[in-house]
Amino acid sequence: MEIPKWPVSSERELELLRQVLESPQWGGYHDFVARFESEFAAFQHCLYGVAAVNGTVTLEMALAAAGIGPGDEVIVPAISFISTATAVSRVGATPVFVDIEPWSFNMDPERAAVAITLRTRAVIVVHFGGPMADMDRLVRLAEERGLVLIEDAAHAHGSEWRGRRAGSLGLAGSFSFQNSKVMTAGEGGLLITRDADFAARVRSIGDQGRRAGGGWFHHYILGTNYRMTAWQAAVLIAGLERLPEQICLRARNARLLLAELAGVAGIHWQEVPAAANANSWYLVLGRIDARRLGVTRDEFCRRLAEEGVPATPFYPHPLYGNPLYQEGGCRVEPCPVAEASIGDAFWLPHRVLMGSEEQTAEIGAALRRACRL
Ligand SMILES: Cc1ncc(COP(=O)(O)O)c(C=O)c1O
Repeated sequence: MEIPKWPVSSERELELLRQVLESPQWGGYHDFVARFESEFAAFQHCLYGVAAVNGTVTLEMALAAAGIGPGDEVIVPAISFISTATAVSRVGATPVFVDIEPWSFNMDPERAAVAITLRTRAVIVVHFGGPMADMDRLVRLAEERGLVLIEDAAHAHGSEWRGRRAGSLGLAGSFSFQNSKVMTAGEGGLLITRDADFAARVRSIGDQGRRAGGGWFHHYILGTNYRMTAWQAAVLIAGLERLPEQICLRARNARLLLAELAGVAGIHWQEVPAAANANSWYLVLGRIDARRLGVTRDEFCRRLAEEGVPATPFYPHPLYGNPLYQEGGCRVEPCPVAEASIGDAFWLPHRVLMGSEEQTAEIGAALRRACRL
């Protein structure tokens, strides 16, 4: 079976990359970097963008620019990629792992509320797989308890909550352009915010502590070099031009695929609340009820792999199960849903949604076959 390839590119990338090649500036000070920052920030309904080498350091910069450090606690979901937690540890603060909701895969706002202590300074919410977390409740919680809200929107380019795009509801939104993401330059990251001072602090951290208008050899704070290159920006400008169309394609194919599987009892697909009115469709997520399906999650994924359909049997453990956090350095709230999901969840990558209707129907048929006893 032919599964659509990812990443994709066209003559447009070559044209923009050639412009960089022929310019005297290949680094972060090329116009393309500033152009991508403002175009992407505007696309996500935000004012300022700061580009960086990846979507891990954008989280670290957001925390550092918010003044979070040793002695502080930051609430994070137990299910995410490791960066959501290590960004907290790397600024010297303590990640506090809380449970996800059973079917949305996103942080449970009630569990977050219960985890707050006098040391809590921030919450990092992840829009897992694309659909946004319950931002009505999380924004309210952060406001009522005086916490900084950071959105890890690494999966959520173009996703919306009540018409507002990911990353524009908290103090900052962090995006990744790593190879598997719905927009990619192989690596890359970008932080968006509506706060001009915060944006300036973030930029200074990632640009050797410089200040706008302050001179090349004038360093005002302890910074480092996290600047995105012009090569990355060139590829990402082209990628952003294509993104809206790709999101529509994935939404159409997701509808077709899920309709094809509608009669199958035993797979519970990720639930998306009506308020999450647009979805990047970074992942197609589900949980297997092996008793009802008659097939275990691992067997289901193995059968799909045999058919050439890439399926990942979820993470091997909640974030706190990593050896890194076995020795401490974190606080763990009860996470029964996260722990259960380790045994029964799976995901398909977004490229399964990027083919024709016929290809999608074939993938749907393979999924049905994988469910057969
Ligand atoms: C939820 C989440 N946050 C952060 C990152 C880190 O991004 P990067 O790989 O660009 O450092 C990733 C993925 O790679 C991710 O999935």
